[in-house]
Amino acid sequence: MRDLKLKSLQAGNCSLTLRFTVGLTGTKLGCAEGGCGACTVMVSRSSPSPPPPRHFAVNACLAPLCSLHHSAVTTVEGIGSVASKLHPVQERIARAHGSQCGFCTPGIVMSMYALLRNNPQPSLLDIEEAFQGEVLRSYQSKTFVCSPCWWQKETYMESGWPCTCSEAYFLLYNPSEFMPLDPTQEIIFPIELKKPLKQLCFQGERVLWIQPSSLTELLDFKTQYPEARLVVGNTEVGIEMKFKNLLYPVILAPAFIPELNTVQRTADGILFGAACTLTRLGMVLRDAVQELPTYQTEVFRAVLEQLRWFAGQQVRNVAAIGGNIVTASPISDLNPVFLAAGCKLTLASKGGKRVIEMDDSFFPGYRKTVLKPDEILLFIEIPFTKKGQYFSAFKQSQRREDDIATVTCAMNVAFEENTNSVRNLRLSYGGMAPTTVLAKETCKRLTGRKWSDELLQDACSLLAKEMTLDPSAPGGMVTYRRTLTISLFFKFYLIVQHKLAQDLNVEVRCGPFANVQFSLYLPSLWQTLKLSDDVVGRPIMHLSALKQATGEAVYCDDIPCYDNELHLALVTSTKAHAFIENIDTKEAMCVPGVVAFLTAKDIPGSNRTGPAVYDETVTCVGHIIAAIVADTQAHAQRAAKAVKITYKELKPVVTIQEAISCKSFYQPTRKIEQGNIEEGFKKADHILEGEMHIGGQEHFYLETNCTLAVPRGEDGEMEMFVSTQSTSKTQMLVAKALGVPANRIVCRVKRMGGGFGGKECRSTILSTVVAVAAQKLKKPVRCMLDRDEDMLVTGGRHPFLGRYKVGFMKTGRIVSLEVTYYSNAGNSADLSLSRALFHMENCYNIPHIRGMGYMCKTNLPSNTAFRGFGGPQGMMVAESWMGDVALHCGLPVEQVRRLNMYKQGDRTPFTQRLEQFTIDRCWEECLSISQYNQRRKAIEQFNRQHRWKKRGIAVIPTKFGITLTSNLYSIQAGALVHVYIDGSVLLTHGGTEMGQGLHTKMVQVASKVLGIPCSKIHISETSTSTVPNTSPTAASASSDLNGMAIYDACQTLNQRLQPYKTKNPKGTWEDWVKAAYFDRVNLSANGFYKTPDMGYDFETNEGKPFNYFSYGVACSEVEVDCLTGDHKNLHTSIVMDVGNSLNPAIDIGQVEGAFMQGVGLFTLEELLYSPEGVLLTRGPGMYKIPAFGDIPTELNVSLLRDAPNEKAIFSSKAVGEPPLFLAASVFYAIKDAITAARAESGLRGPFRLDSPATPERIRNACEDSFTKLVRMTPLFIVALCFFIFSHKSSFTLWLDFHWIRICCVLGSRTQ
Ligand SMILES: Cc1cc2nc3c(=O)[nH]c(=O)nc-3n(C[C@H](O)[C@H](O)[C@H](O)COP(=O)(O)OP(=O)(O)OC[C@H]3O[C@@H](n4cnc5c(N)ncnc54)[C@H](O)[C@@H]3O)c2cc1C
Ligand code: FES
Repeated sequence: MRDLKLKSLQAGNCSLTLRFTVGLTGTKLGCAEGGCGACTVMVSRSSPSPPPPRHFAVNACLAPLCSLHHSAVTTVEGIGSVASKLHPVQERIARAHGSQCGFCTPGIVMSMYALLRNNPQPSLLDIEEAFQGEVLRSYQSKTFVCSPCWWQKETYMESGWPCTCSEAYFLLYNPSEFMPLDPTQEIIFPIELKKPLKQLCFQGERVLWIQPSSLTELLDFKTQYPEARLVVGNTEVGIEMKFKNLLYPVILAPAFIPELNTVQRTADGILFGAACTLTRLGMVLRDAVQELPTYQTEVFRAVLEQLRWFAGQQVRNVAAIGGNIVTASPISDLNPVFLAAGCKLTLASKGGKRVIEMDDSFFPGYRKTVLKPDEILLFIEIPFTKKGQYFSAFKQSQRREDDIATVTCAMNVAFEENTNSVRNLRLSYGGMAPTTVLAKETCKRLTGRKWSDELLQDACSLLAKEMTLDPSAPGGMVTYRRTLTISLFFKFYLIVQHKLAQDLNVEVRCGPFANVQFSLYLPSLWQTLKLSDDVVGRPIMHLSALKQATGEAVYCDDIPCYDNELHLALVTSTKAHAFIENIDTKEAMCVPGVVAFLTAKDIPGSNRTGPAVYDETVTCVGHIIAAIVADTQAHAQRAAKAVKITYKELKPVVTIQEAISCKSFYQPTRKIEQGNIEEGFKKADHILEGEMHIGGQEHFYLETNCTLAVPRGEDGEMEMFVSTQSTSKTQMLVAKALGVPANRIVCRVKRMGGGFGGKECRSTILSTVVAVAAQKLKKPVRCMLDRDEDMLVTGGRHPFLGRYKVGFMKTGRIVSLEVTYYSNAGNSADLSLSRALFHMENCYNIPHIRGMGYMCKTNLPSNTAFRGFGGPQGMMVAESWMGDVALHCGLPVEQVRRLNMYKQGDRTPFTQRLEQFTIDRCWEECLSISQYNQRRKAIEQFNRQHRWKKRGIAVIPTKFGITLTSNLYSIQAGALVHVYIDGSVLLTHGGTEMGQGLHTKMVQVASKVLGIPCSKIHISETSTSTVPNTSPTAASASSDLNGMAIYDACQTLNQRLQPYKTKNPKGTWEDWVKAAYFDRVNLSANGFYKTPDMGYDFETNEGKPFNYFSYGVACSEVEVDCLTGDHKNLHTSIVMDVGNSLNPAIDIGQVEGAFMQGVGLFTLEELLYSPEGVLLTRGPGMYKIPAFGDIPTELNVSLLRDAPNEKAIFSSKAVGEPPLFLAASVFYAIKDAITAARAESGLRGPFRLDSPATPERIRNACEDSFTKLVRMTPLFIVALCFFIFSHKSSFTLWLDFHWIRICCVLGSRTQ
């Protein structure tokens, strides 16, 4: 046995070791739970089978360091660098504008690299699979979706593969300049790793890791340590240890034991060793499906279907079958299949082996199995199916890709030979009980019956009775989950009916295939743009893109550690509203490496970092109470968890409704009014009232909040490296907390891995605490929040409730509107005075209008700025009443939108005149590009032919006001430009780079004004010591403001250099600079800009709140699965007015990124809080942001031509926020599809759909007989069955009109 001492084995995962021990910071940490892909590395191993070496992508955050013995780990630094040579993958992602904030780029590079190592000619499907484990927040979606084309365009063209990218797409870069991929140049697998296996043992601080070399050794150890966990992929145990605070002192690692990796065909099926990975399982089953007769592989295909939606590839590459079974999760995706198939399990212990059939007795309780403590799972045998046996599996989740199941199930039916009489039926469900369960009663009652409409009726009622859930069941969504059990059976019914018809050669009235899950669609993207020869207007690659793709770009936490550096962890409240009675730190201070425990008493200056005043009351879960400082992050976090706090609880206010009922509001309440709404309502033909709730949103910037504070030891000086959008705010608040003047504090930001408004104010709650610790301990202190901590403490986009009363004429013309907005501000007002009221009418001219805005004071972490800043919520409610009016009048909604739309010169409710108004041009162009009318007709036809799938379409306009609305004084910017004697230019301005390409655009501006190439200009960082008193980089206004300040500084330099240019007109830039220097001319200039004529007064409704407006229109088409609530984004066309684009590649990326973030907001991302105010959805496992599959199959982005904007630098327009709301077109397209589904059930007229349009909301809104069935009481069902039984003759007819309208009537239309 070889012993190795590791400092901290339980924290010894691969990513932390790479970053802090080896110093390879290209591997990023975005979530630490395998859910984001930022930490992807490639592991190569000479494993027993298949033949060595095997290369696979792995999440380094979940890979225990010990598991990598005998493995080669390749990080992004290992494949190429800017300094030496780029790898083609790195080059292509960068040059094709595939990197924005760049924090996830190394992970994406490594996923692609690992794929190409195994398969240099990947198919589209391979690429989609490889990216399944990556989440994207700042997208350049076209790059990824089109990557097969840019990867091997020629091959695709030659093979006849339809390359669907428009030529315009290739205007943004030139694929012919890409380096070719040369697989022979790849790193060679180190020969010394092909060693024979020995037993290994690693002893850590708290964990003993043993890697037995044989089965006998493993069973011996299991007898010796019955409590030991077996770890193969660590995708379950790793999560338990990190997030559930569980400790397993002994870990046995059986991954290399040959028996546990066995794959063997037997007479009855295929036998898999329990340590076989899910990727291997998939490969073997895919081969079997190819080779064996179809009837034998029904179960195999069901397993493959489940694997398709199972986690990301990085997880599937390491996670084992045995791990999935023995974890016994009630929402395991494989256990329902294994249960329904009756798989055989071989269990082994030192005493011998036993074989059992898997049924629900295998799971005696929540996360329990029948395995004895000294037993392990050795094999699982997945059976062949027989003729006359059919098997399907379904998984329904919030997001299709890489998500845990809401309900998952498998269904197995065997028929008597050559008949449709059920011999055996097995239905198993996950997500319906604390364990995977079999619907035994239903199956028993249906055995012996014919597979017919009557069986379906009975099955539905029986399942409704058997698959019940308590209203308080964990996971919620009770009605939805119950509906799914029936809806999914209905799908199975149709599939089996179809197969039976084929096999028995009889006619069938149902076309089943439409009702299986959505398949992957071939994506296509294109953009329409006009390119400029000028440096401004050219699609220059993001300046950091290459470094981001190689991992060389330095983010805050990548700054090398100082020798004496300490780490900080926050101690936060677990109660939403409570007095702190006692804080016990005894246990925490005993954790090794702990240096200090800090509270408010340690703050030398002021503790007022906002409106909250220090007292001993906590006002939200996540409220920062104290901090622990220790030698490592792991020790600090362990100690922070060990601090014991006793609270006296007070009643919290959590929801908007609760705040309204107890009038818990911040002041001021805002109002904007124009016309006379009472008069307007009197004139109206109709009046409608309604309301809509829009959920909040987590910023989910890939780089979480991070601060490194370095005391300089003199005069109270402190250097702050912070991931923040507000350098000056950080500086001022740190100075205030430390009790020193601001001139002692320097705040520096190189770049951020995303911000989206979340680092405008909220970053200061961390940076201030870290600064206090650094000053007190006189040492550098660092803290990068874990994803779950970040989500817990920092708040996000405000949830909104909008209530409206709208008066309108029969024609659809709206004459009067009263709307009230309530936003959930949380425990401080922060940046809650949002823009909702300024956008309450969206693009529509309403003569009589009144809007009120309330900020609800609740016990949630303070919500804050987020891309759009309340504007999207304001417009979302507007489109809700617009849709209601159209439905009520029975008019096409796009006609009603057009009828009410503003015209050039109209005035808004806040009296601003609309100039250079381009919305009608955007509208017409969007209708034409999207071929709206043809689509609408095709959709109507599709909907007539399909009962259980419906398509919908919506065209939505947006008008977005540009300026920083929070304070008039912040509408200013500064710049500092140094020209050095060699002619190089150092540019500094007040804006921060968070991926939006600001620095790139600013270099383009300086390049144009100075008349020199971009390559001579460099931006190093944003710092309070170079440009003081900066405004936050926010509100999309940074290019406008900083661009003008740079223009000002560069013009000053031009004037100073002009005499030398005049004197030497044929000279070069360098000649003029040198001449000026020797003439003692100041070659450094600062610039300043403030937007003129701004300011608005709510009291008088006078003034000008916005400098100008950005406009855009989007048309989206979706397809909804009415049985599950799933939807697929089929098409989106966007026409966006960005003025004269400074950089079309960056602007298109911003349009796509904002749109997809909006798709998340309106259709996917759901923050759930308990009634006690605890955020339940923390981390990517629970909170789903869009993945690759959510990008519309066809996405067209067009920048409006010839629309110069005289109000901003070089006639450009702001672009960061305005396109986000266009994603509402997806939401309203879904609503349109639901309207069609409801019409089938006889439901017409306006209905409420809250945002986000989750599968649950969609399914529940598609009311039909299934939804009615689960809402019925058992007594009603009994009565119903009795009724059906006694009226058998009129049954079919009755069904058609009143109940589930199935089969004989619907068959021909169901596809
Ligand atoms: C990001 C992410 C996404 C996920 N997505 C899904 C999903 O979509 N669907 C799904 O079902 N699950 C999902 N999971 C859960 C998890 O990946 C699976 O359960 C996986 O199969 C576990 O395998 P593992 O080898 O990593 O288990 P490990 O963490 O190594 O072990 C898990 C447990 O199994 C026990 N065990 C393992 N092998 C044996 C054996 N041979 N004998 C006895 N006990 C054994 C261990 O003692 C331990 O208690 C996800 C997990 C993550 C982190
Ligand atoms: S950090 Fe590893 S997957 Fe997110």
